[in-house]
Amino acid sequence: MGEIQSEVYILSRDAEESARLNRQHDFLVEVYGNNLIHPSIPKENIQSVADIATGTGIWLRDAATVLGMQNRNPSSPYYLHGFDISSAQFQPVPTQTNAEIYLSLQNCLEPFPPEHHGRYDFVHVRLLIGALRKGEYELAIKNIFDILKPGGYFQWEEANADSITSDITPQPPSLTESRRLLLDYVEKSGLFTMPANYIKSEAKRIGFGNLHIEEYNTASRPHLRDWSRAWLTRLVRLLMPMAMIRLGKASEEDVAREMAEELMAEFERECAEATVGLTMEMVIGKKPERRGVCCK
Ligand SMILES: C[S@@+](CC[C@H](N)C(=O)[O-])C[C@H]1O[C@@H](n2cnc3c(N)ncnc32)[C@H](O)[C@@H]1O
Repeated sequence: MGEIQSEVYILSRDAEESARLNRQHDFLVEVYGNNLIHPSIPKENIQSVADIATGTGIWLRDAATVLGMQNRNPSSPYYLHGFDISSAQFQPVPTQTNAEIYLSLQNCLEPFPPEHHGRYDFVHVRLLIGALRKGEYELAIKNIFDILKPGGYFQWEEANADSITSDITPQPPSLTESRRLLLDYVEKSGLFTMPANYIKSEAKRIGFGNLHIEEYNTASRPHLRDWSRAWLTRLVRLLMPMAMIRLGKASEEDVAREMAEELMAEFERECAEATVGLTMEMVIGKKPERRGVCCK
C-alpha cells in the first residue's frame, strides 16, 4: 500500500469505508440529477480526464462508461487518470476498449510530474473537505490549473457542513448537538466547514474564468429523502467518536464510541420521520484559452 506523507485526513481507508465511498458515489450522482459532469461543461471535446483524490476510483470508472457512450471517435480512446495521496483504496479497473484508465499516487498539494502538465481537458475533484487545511486549497487549485489544457474545465464538489438540517421545527436537539460537535471538530482540525466559496475565490485569483457554484440539497426530491437521512446518519456516526476525542469529551476510544453511539441512537429516534440533508456545492471553472485572456 502506498502512502505519501502524514496528513490530517479524518476518515479511515478500510474496506468498509471503500464500500461506503462507492455507495456515496451512486447517491451523489443521483443528487446531481444523474449528471456526472455538470451540463454547463461541453463534453464533445473531452478526451483526457483527471480525478484528484480519487479514493477507490469509482468516479473515474463511471466517467469511462458515460464518456464511452458519447464517443464519436472510437479509434481514439479516452485517457483517464486517478490520483490519490494513498493507494489503500484503489480498486481494480476493468479493461475498457475505449478508455485507458490509470491510478497513481500523487499528493494534490505537490506539483504533478511534467508529463501531466497541460494534459487534461477536464479535472474532477470531490470531497477533500476532511483533508485539506485552510491555506492548502490554493496549492491544489494551482496544481489543477497546471495540469489542465488551455480551455479545459474543472469541477470540484464539496459538502457544506454548516447546512446540515432537518425539516422539523425546532430542530431535534440531537441533530443540533451533532452538527455543533462536527463543526467544532472540523474547525479545530484547521479545516473549512464550507469550502466552496473559498475554492471559487482562490480559483479566480489563480486565473480561472467562467466560475460558478451549483448547489444541490441532498434531500430535495422525494425519492432522495430516506437515502439522504441514511447517508448523513452513517457519515455523522463515522465521524463522531473521533470528534468526541479531539474535542476532549472522552480520552479513551471505547468511551468516545459509547458516547457517540448514545447521541446517534437519539439522532435516529428523533429524526426517524424527518427529512435530513445538507447542501453539496459544485464549483465549476475554465482555464483561459490563452495565457492572460480570461473567459468571464
Ligand atoms: C472522502 S474521500 C473521497 C474520494 C473520492 N473523491 C470520492 O468522492 O469517492 C477523500 C480522498 O482524498 C484523498 N486525499 C486526502 N488528502 C489528499 C491529498 N493531499 N492529495 C490527494 N489525495 C488526498 C484520500 O486519500 C481519500 O481517498
